[in-house]
Amino acid sequence: MVVTTFSRAEAAGVTLGERHAVGITRDGRWLLVDTTCPHRGGPLHLGQFDADASTVTCPWHGRLAHCSSLQPLGEPWIRSGDQISMLVKRGIAVRPIVFSTLTGS
Ligand code: FES
Repeated sequence: MVVTTFSRAEAAGVTLGERHAVGITRDGRWLLVDTTCPHRGGPLHLGQFDADASTVTCPWHGRLAHCSSLQPLGEPWIRSGDQISMLVKRGIAVRPIVFSTLTGS
């Protein structure tokens, strides 16, 4: 396992191998959530987000998902101020996802 760190100011989330996670605020807490569409695994992080409605439209089949339905990322991570540190398996490529942070309720 290795620790990877990124700044919330520089990235909205991370790509972990073929999985993706973005940061949302839910019930006043900032969370990293998996962006795999519950329908057939589409990439919700590439979808159309509506911050006012806290929804995202999946780019594959156009279904609407509420940000509250996105599942927290299973990998251990901690936030210290603006820095997010994650523990990931060695050999898993980790890259930042750069776009604005989402809001979900
Ligand atoms: S995979 Fe997302 S709507 Fe079908």
